[in-house]
Amino acid sequence: MKFFIDTANLSEIQEAQDLGVLDGVTTNPSLMAKEGIKGTDAVMAHYKAICAIVDGDVSAEVIATDYAGMIREGEALAALDDKIVVKIPMIRDGVKAIKYFSDQGIRTNCTLVFSAGQAILAAKAGASYVSPFVGRLDDVSQDGLALIAQITEIYGNFGFHTEVLAASVRHVMHLVECAEIGADVVTCPLSVITGLLNHPLTDIGLAKFLSDYQKNNG
Ligand code: E4P
Repeated sequence: MKFFIDTANLSEIQEAQDLGVLDGVTTNPSLMAKEGIKGTDAVMAHYKAICAIVDGDVSAEVIATDYAGMIREGEALAALDDKIVVKIPMIRDGVKAIKYFSDQGIRTNCTLVFSAGQAILAAKAGASYVSPFVGRLDDVSQDGLALIAQITEIYGNFGFHTEVLAASVRHVMHLVECAEIGADVVTCPLSVITGLLNHPLTDIGLAKFLSDYQKNNG
């Protein structure tokens, strides 16, 4: 399973990269805004800065919602770096744009996916990744993890090449259950990745080992 970090914060991306377990980055316009990145030039420069840190795929989202605009923005994003994956929303023109990019050999991440039907459409159009939002479904009392399982099963039935990228993963158990289901990728905040480190018995055990060492060695 690949680990992507879901942020536009350069120091968090660097920290995850330094941990040695990072496979990529996802961003979205809200995450860019959180870092105060505004204006096309600044946005493009920020994506280049992210690509310079991470050894893996970097999802960069288009803002346009019409076909021509998505093609224009997506081509400019893809030209920035080979690591860029063009992130496109699951809307009618988005599906057409995914098909266009797929035909051009440009990788895409179909975002804002909330149903199995949408995921089938994204795969048919040739998306490299499909991003069902686990946490946001949970937020509205729907089972986000059940959708990951459903899409994984459907893609398996037909051998679709689209990778299931579980997005909006909010806590450690989301991540672990995505792993059990067989999601290809999870994207989550740094706190979820580092949260995997934690177990109180590890801390207690290490403290005991170190104190026994000290007693034995003076
Ligand atoms: C997906 O790529 C999105 O950036 C993200 O995972 C959304 O997460 P949120 O619902 O916690 O904002």
